[in-house]
Amino acid sequence: LDVFEAMETCRAIRFFKKDPVPDELIDKILYAATRAPSPGNSQGWDFIVVTDPAIKQALSRKISGVMEATVGAMQQQMGGLEALDPTTRRMLQGTLNLARTLGDIPAIILVCGKKVYPPQSPTEQFVWSALYPAAQNILVAARALGLGTCFTTYQNTCDKELRELLHIPEDVHIAAFIPLGWPAAGFGPLTRRPVGDFVHRNGWQGDLRG
Ligand SMILES: Cc1cc2nc3c(=O)[nH]c(=O)nc-3n(C[C@H](O)[C@H](O)[C@H](O)COP(=O)(O)O)c2cc1C
Repeated sequence: LDVFEAMETCRAIRFFKKDPVPDELIDKILYAATRAPSPGNSQGWDFIVVTDPAIKQALSRKISGVMEATVGAMQQQMGGLEALDPTTRRMLQGTLNLARTLGDIPAIILVCGKKVYPPQSPTEQFVWSALYPAAQNILVAARALGLGTCFTTYQNTCDKELRELLHIPEDVHIAAFIPLGWPAAGFGPLTRRPVGDFVHRNGWQGDLRG
């Protein structure tokens, strides 16, 4: 798959088949993650791959409980599910489905890392600088293999339980919680504004988006 085609159809997948994903494919995606750039080539990333059904179920229970409350409150604020625009409605329904079905999704990849850069006085800022490119490589590599992912911050809904379940020390920062599996529906075209809304030539050209 051409890399441009992979990027322009790499939608957030929130509905998955239960079919297993071969370890070789997961390994290939992790390889791609470790080819990402990082500050000073510090490579301060670690990837926790969760495939154990009991752990995934426990995470699903916790995360879906929190997400149900959050999404419920959002819906109430916005005047009910019917009042939402179709894209937001689909996103909220999708993220609830994703949380509820985590136990059946073949793998979850946590992108995490410690402060390692600059070596003489490491700062947190550079942790995220390394982890976000690695996470994006995971998304695009998975898409190239026909696998779906969704970049999520579910780790923030259950920090304590997640660390306990997976023995993650406090000094490890978690940037992304990425479910991975075969998509139940097709990949996308993406919904994005035209490139001209964002690109300034030879200097800032004012607000491009009206
Ligand atoms: C930093 C970050 C956090 C995100 N967190 C969540 C999340 O917690 N749950 C979720 O369902 N999607 C999450 N997403 C996915 C976005 O909602 C999604 O990429 C965006 O709506 C655009 O949709 P598309 O990728 O399908 O085009 C996150 C994406 C990013 C980059």
